Amino acid sequence: MEQLNEIILKIENEYKSLLLEMKLSDKRKKHIEGCVELAYSLAGLYNIDQYKAVLAALLHDFFKELNNKDIIEKAKRLNIDISDFEVRFPRVLHGKVAASYFLDRGLIKDKYILEAIRHHTLGAANVSELTKLLFIVDATEKHREYEGVVELRKGIEEKNLDEAYILVLKKTIIDMIIKNKVLAPSTIGAYNYMMEVN
Ligand SMILES: [Fe+2]
Ligand SMILES: [Fe+2]
Repeated sequence: MEQLNEIILKIENEYKSLLLEMKLSDKRKKHIEGCVELAYSLAGLYNIDQYKAVLAALLHDFFKELNNKDIIEKAKRLNIDISDFEVRFPRVLHGKVAASYFLDRGLIKDKYILEAIRHHTLGAANVSELTKLLFIVDATEKHREYEGVVELRKGIEEKNLDEAYILVLKKTIIDMIIKNKVLAPSTIGAYNYMMEVN
C-alpha cells in the first residue's frame, strides 16, 4: 500500500500550479488536512483507489471561499446549469464549479474524481464509490464539530460504504429538518435512491 505522504508528494508535483492557485483560510486548510487523512484511510478500508481519494479530498473545496456573486458568475462562465435550489443557495455550487473548472482546463479528466468533487456537498443518486466516500469524508473528518458527529464517526466505522453513505445522508437530512432549513433535492434524491437499491 502506498503511504499517504508518497501520494501527497506525487500530487504536489503533478498539480503544483493548481495547488498554488488554491486560496483557503486557515480553518479551511485544517478541514482539507482532515479530509485528506480520512479519505486515505477510508479508501484503504473500502478498497478504493487511494490516490484518487486523496486528490479529490485535496481539491474538493477549491472554490469554497468564493462569495455568492462570484460563484454564480463562475458557474455561468463554465456553462453550468443552475437549479432553483442553487439560485437560492449559490455556495452549494462550489463543488460543481470546481469540477467544471478542472475539466475545462484539462487538469483532471478522471470522471470519478470529477463526480466526487461535483457532489461532495449535497450527495446525489446513482453515484460511484469515490463520490460516496468523499461525501462521507467531508461531513465527518476529525475537525468537524456538530451535534452527533462523534456517534456518526463511530457508526461509520462499523459499516460498509453504502451503509455509511446512508447514515451520513440521513444525518444531513435530519439536521436540516431540525434546523428548519430547506432540503436540497439532490440529497433527497440520493437518499431515495439508496433506499430503493439497498
Ligand atoms: Fe465543500
Ligand atoms: Fe469540504
